Formats: sequence, C-alpha cells, structure tokens
Amino acid sequence: MSISVQNLSKWYGQQKAVDSVSFELKKGEILGFLGPNGAGKSTTMKMLTCYIPPSDGTAKVAGIDIIENPLLVKEKIGYLPENNPLYYDMYVKEFLEFALHINRPKQSSNRLQRIKETIDIVGLGIEQHKKIGQLSKGYKQRVGLAQALIHDPEILILDEPTTGLDPNQLADIRSLIKTLGREKTILFSTHIMQEVQAVCDSVVIINKGKLVANDKTENLQKLWSSDVVVEVEFEQAITIEQLQQINGVQLVNKLSDTNFILHGKDSTQLRKDIFTIAVNTNNPLLTLKQESKSLEDIFQQLTHP
Ligand SMILES: Nc1ncnc2c1ncn2[C@@H]1O[C@H](COP(=O)(O)OP(=O)(O)O)[C@@H](O)[C@H]1O
Ligand SMILES: [Mg+2]
Repeated sequence: MSISVQNLSKWYGQQKAVDSVSFELKKGEILGFLGPNGAGKSTTMKMLTCYIPPSDGTAKVAGIDIIENPLLVKEKIGYLPENNPLYYDMYVKEFLEFALHINRPKQSSNRLQRIKETIDIVGLGIEQHKKIGQLSKGYKQRVGLAQALIHDPEILILDEPTTGLDPNQLADIRSLIKTLGREKTILFSTHIMQEVQAVCDSVVIINKGKLVANDKTENLQKLWSSDVVVEVEFEQAITIEQLQQINGVQLVNKLSDTNFILHGKDSTQLRKDIFTIAVNTNNPLLTLKQESKSLEDIFQQLTHP
C-alpha cells in the first residue's frame, strides 16, 4: 500500500473535523478525495503530509508512519496545498530552484537538469522566463505542480488542483494529472464528481469528517449510470437478497429495513416485478417512486446536510 489511513481523527477545539477515517491507496493508483466544502479534505491531507499531527489514529505513507517519522514521509511526497501558495515576485525557475533546494538540500549535481525536466513535464516551457505573478491561473497551477514534483517523489498529494480554472485549463491540468498517474501514486481532492470519473481509479467521499463512500470508480459509476432508479418502501422489512432476485435489478441500496433504492434497467418490468414481490410476500408497498439520478444527485444524497 502506498497510503494506508487508519482511524485518522482531528479535533479543532470542540469540533471533530476528521472523524475516524480509514482508507487505502495502492501504488500507482489515482484516488479522488471527494466531499463538500468543510468536509475535512484539507485537514486529512495536512495530516498525511505531516503539516499537522492527528488527534487520534495514524497513517502510513510510502510505508512510513506519519507520527513516527514525519521528515522521511515528507521526502517521499510532493504536496500541492489548497489555493496553491506561491511567491509571486519570484521567477519560475528561481522558485523551482528554491523548491528543489528545500526538498533535496544535499543534492549538488544535476540540479539545473532536474529543473529543466520538471518544466517539460508540466508544460511550462513557453512561460518559464516569467515572474510567477505574471502567469495565468492555469500556468500558476503548473508551477504548483512543478514544485510538488521537483524532487521526483513517489506520491503526490494535491489539494483541489483544479479549482478556479477555466474549462480549457481544467482539461489541461486533468490530463496532466492523469499522465503523472502513470508513474506516481496520486491522492487529489476535488468537489467535482465528473472529474473523479474522468481521472480516478478509486474514490473516497467524506462528509462532515466521516467517510461515506469508498469504492472503485467503476463501481460507483455503475451506480451513477444506471438507467432507472426506483425508490421503494414496504410496510414490513424485506431483505436485500429478495430484492436482488427481481429481474433487471443491478444494485440495491438499503436506506432502512423497509426503504430501498433500486438501480436497474427496463423500468416498466422492474416496477411490475416490485409489485409482484409485494403481493407474493404479502408485504404492502407504500411507496414506489421512479427518479433519474445524475452524478450530482448521488453526491448530494451522500453528503447533503
Ligand atoms: N485551523 C483550523 N482551526 C479550526 N477549525 C478549522 C481549522 N481548519 C479547518 N477547520 C474546520 O474544519 C472543518 C474541515 O475543514 P477542511 O479540512 O478545510 O475541509 P475541506 O478541505 O473539505 O473544505 C471545517 O469546518 C473548518 O472550518
Ligand atoms: Mg479544503
């Protein structure tokens, strides 16, 4: 495992901003860390990058415990913090030299070579002679990625790297992240569902500090892209297994013993079969409501206050 998070928690005074979160990230995977504003994404990332200590629980990053050996963890990771803090008065190359120096103070050879390589990787070539403050937001973001990459870390932790970009910049930065993901393990946060779908192997969704979903993107996608979504309520308890026997049902989400969301194909047959099951089991059907779900709907369903 590249990252293994175990019951990580953080209190800010009376507020539990991160509440016993656990998840894992395999080497070479891109994981989308999703949640509404205030969910605890940045706080979790600050703990994983050893900027703040956890209140409880721990994590291993590149096999190293974040509490026992934070300095070594920092060597293994590249971190792009939220809002991409940069020194606007510095020149791009000057800043990258500085970033390389603080990450690899002892490296004396190939420094210029490494800066040149990194500029190529993130596509900063034509803007490399400017001051950072003179760059567009998309290029500033490339500088932020470059400083995270400069010491060639095996893991990248990127906090909302695409927030505030226009559609073209967004597409560029997303494809850059995807390309970087071929060689590196990447944890990146966002509140955009489609982004996760486009870029990530797996997804963790948190809400109010708690983990609410953790799955492969393709599994969540099945949920997202089902043709029909039917909400049912029975008078008495019914099992998931009974509902799964209905032809055309692909997925069952249990809301309570009597309430379920069914995802499937062929809505008319599906609804007929639900009625039949109610009759056969002598369990009156109280609600049968068909909806169409978008990505946003699922996100809201999981995270709405
Ligand atoms: N340094 C801090 N002191 C007190 N509360 C904080 C601090 N940083 C974050 N919080 C609170 O913790 C919660 C989670 O914040 P954050 O991790 O930034 O969420 P996200 O990145 O998902 O938007 C929010 O309610 C926020 O106000
Ligand atoms: Mg944040």
